[in-house]
Amino acid sequence: MPVCDLDKRRPHAKRVLGIDVVVWWDRNEAAWKVMDDRCSHRLAPLSEGRIDQWGRLQCVYHGWCFDGSGDCKLIPQAPRDGPPVHTFKQACVAVYPSTVQHDIVWFWPNSDPQYKDIITKKKPPSIKELEDPSFTKAMGNRDIPYGYEVLIENLMDPAHKVDREGGRPLELSIKKLDINGFVAKQEWGTSRFLPPCIFYANSDPFIDPGNGSASSAEMQKAPSSPLGPNRKLALIFICIPVSPGKSRLIWVFPRNFGVWMDRVVPRWIFHIGQNLILDSDLYLLHVEEHKIMEVGSSNWQKACFVPTKSDALVVGFRKWLNKYAGGQVDWRGKFSGALPPTPPRERLMDRYWSHVVNCSSCNTAYKGLNALEVALQIASVALLGILAATKQSAASAIRRNTVLVMAVLCFAASRWLAHFIYKKFRYHDYDHAFR
Ligand code: FES
Repeated sequence: MPVCDLDKRRPHAKRVLGIDVVVWWDRNEAAWKVMDDRCSHRLAPLSEGRIDQWGRLQCVYHGWCFDGSGDCKLIPQAPRDGPPVHTFKQACVAVYPSTVQHDIVWFWPNSDPQYKDIITKKKPPSIKELEDPSFTKAMGNRDIPYGYEVLIENLMDPAHKVDREGGRPLELSIKKLDINGFVAKQEWGTSRFLPPCIFYANSDPFIDPGNGSASSAEMQKAPSSPLGPNRKLALIFICIPVSPGKSRLIWVFPRNFGVWMDRVVPRWIFHIGQNLILDSDLYLLHVEEHKIMEVGSSNWQKACFVPTKSDALVVGFRKWLNKYAGGQVDWRGKFSGALPPTPPRERLMDRYWSHVVNCSSCNTAYKGLNALEVALQIASVALLGILAATKQSAASAIRRNTVLVMAVLCFAASRWLAHFIYKKFRYHDYDHAFR
């Protein structure tokens, strides 16, 4: 999760690779901690708990408290003069190695003590635009109702963002596909798949990894950035497998121009458009995933007809998945492999639970706009009350009309706002037939 969307005052429940974890801010160690979301006492979710006055994570069921190392620090029910049962190994909660990189909390999905220091040796991938302070890097996140494979290949596929006239041939090609992913040449720059979860594209000229440099012909052919000289933009998508048929997307589009805009315009304004883009193919991708499961994920290449170069990256990803990851996410036997059933469209495309509650900016905007809607309704009723209480006289006719118009305007504004809130923060159906 992006740190900006995590509240330090409370624990957060997250599922990654089928593992339920609780993410919380340990103020004693000044670090985000990732632990099993399971109290050692009777397995209640710790994410439903609280941070106590000592900065420990407290399970709210019977009040056991844990520190950032997973050690149990308090069992309220244990007699003070009895054995120190809280120090027993069974009282501990498993902790996952974690770190913050690029303002995102990452963790190693294995709590075995042999990996305790893994983060010092194996860091999450470094992305130069996210290291560079001259770039703006507003993030977003959303829970997606289809799996990691379909999500990442959709983001790798520039051919699907077309208008009614259809697309055009795209010259995409992949270089150097190995366990470390691949580099691809796009018409406007370079893109990379950094396994298992990052797809990253920028406008840098393509450098052939075979010879380590761009040929002069390549350099000449490389189109100058449509953004202008020295203006740079990157698209970074982090695709997290959650469980079969579910994934989470973190996106960030760093750029080194118009940086002021992100200081003035709140993130939620950008998220409205970005969520609409995700909504535009959400339903069809959900259904597509079910169809892929019917033929079997490993038969993808046989079942799909992909004769043009515009599908090169998708084909490359499926090749990587088959060759280096067994053709699908390894859930460690946790799931049968079946996809969850398709919920009604309104639930499938819900924005509130998939995004708004997990986005600090949208959540604040949602609460603020709801309060404004109520205020407008109250103002409308109050103005009508004033109107009714005012004695009728010729002298007050203009004033009475003004009050009436204001009451109607307040009511109309509250209705418009209610519609706006529903469409932008709750549910926005996307009907391609009428677009
Ligand atoms: S289940 Fe957590 S304290 Fe009892």
